[in-house]
Amino acid sequence: MTSEQTSAALQPTLRDYESQARHMLSADRAAYFFGGAADELTLEVNQKAFSAIELLPRVLRDVRGGSTELTLLGQPMAHPVLVAPVAYQKLVHPDGEVATAIGAAAQDTAMVLSAQSSIDAAEVRAASAGCGWFQLYWGPSRAANLDLVQRMAELGFTAIVLTVDAPVQGVRDRETRTGFRLPVEVSAVNLANMPVPRFAPLEQGESILFDRIADVAPGWADVEWLCRNSPLPVIVKGIVHPGDARQAVEAGASAIIVSNHGGRVLDTMPATITLLPAIVRAIDGAVPVLMDGGVRRGTDVLKALALGASAVLVGRPVIAGLTVAGAAGVSHVLRLLRDELEIAMMLTGCRTLDDITPDIIYRPATI
Ligand SMILES: Cc1cc2nc3c(=O)[nH]c(=O)nc-3n(C[C@H](O)[C@H](O)[C@H](O)COP(=O)(O)O)c2cc1C
Repeated sequence: MTSEQTSAALQPTLRDYESQARHMLSADRAAYFFGGAADELTLEVNQKAFSAIELLPRVLRDVRGGSTELTLLGQPMAHPVLVAPVAYQKLVHPDGEVATAIGAAAQDTAMVLSAQSSIDAAEVRAASAGCGWFQLYWGPSRAANLDLVQRMAELGFTAIVLTVDAPVQGVRDRETRTGFRLPVEVSAVNLANMPVPRFAPLEQGESILFDRIADVAPGWADVEWLCRNSPLPVIVKGIVHPGDARQAVEAGASAIIVSNHGGRVLDTMPATITLLPAIVRAIDGAVPVLMDGGVRRGTDVLKALALGASAVLVGRPVIAGLTVAGAAGVSHVLRLLRDELEIAMMLTGCRTLDDITPDIIYRPATI
């Protein structure tokens, strides 16, 4: 072991977890979990944009009695780092989503269970209440979507996260080149009884995308309908445009998540942290704004909150923790982020999350 490896083993960072996980997984699974769409520019810029933001701390402020607590959708939370929905977690660990839920609960946070979870939602809920929100991809039947939402409400989930940025899968070259395929033993078990669209054969000149998939893709009327009929609050995930943010609020969303799906769908979008301020301005406090994409350090969490996010979600770092050490790895990754956030708060003179304002972001013109 080199001295660098020894210190990584003693005090790993989220990036150490990711490089260890990449080593442990087969090339195709590493591509699925850690790759992005096309040239992976959005995947890369999500992290780079955080690095480009500089902090300007204030010193000698009284931070006694400080904390990272918040209340989100009426729920008290110990800190603002949530677990993003990520599909098919049994591909990296036999306990899959159950281990992630246990790791999240150990750090007092909410996990969003993916619609494409590889473990039954009832089993995940039974193992841990840490799994609090359920993510939905809109299916072709309104009634079947609502049945699924009602089933999740009965299981004790407290919110629905409706992901709207992926009516079709992105161009995922890295996955294709490594030959990634779901093995038969891993599937989206919660969707087993959902109707699957049966597409009529294509006529001459017709397109599978525009003439078949577009027929079953959701629109704003569906979002509005779901918000009206869902027994649980609906959070819309995958918003990057201020106009769409306003429309989501008009449709009845209880919160929005600024997300570019971690760079897995449309490549060459800007980083979410770059887009966040305009969306916060557009929403003007009407509902909480969350964000995800590229959060790898406590200072990234601090920057997102300074720019108006109420909380952040993390995807790949949690998968890295799960790959390396199951529930304990998930818990450790979340703990590292929280510890780093607390240190960053103290070093910038922020006692509570409300004290984290745009003033701590360095802008040459303002000093
Ligand atoms: C392998 C993988 C699978 C994902 N599956 C889903 C999913 O099922 N539903 C969803 O809404 N988002 C999904 N996402 C997107 C994440 O919820 C989140 O937006 C993204 O991972 C955040 O970026 P980060 O990985 O840099 O933290 C997935 C992301 C990854 C990496």
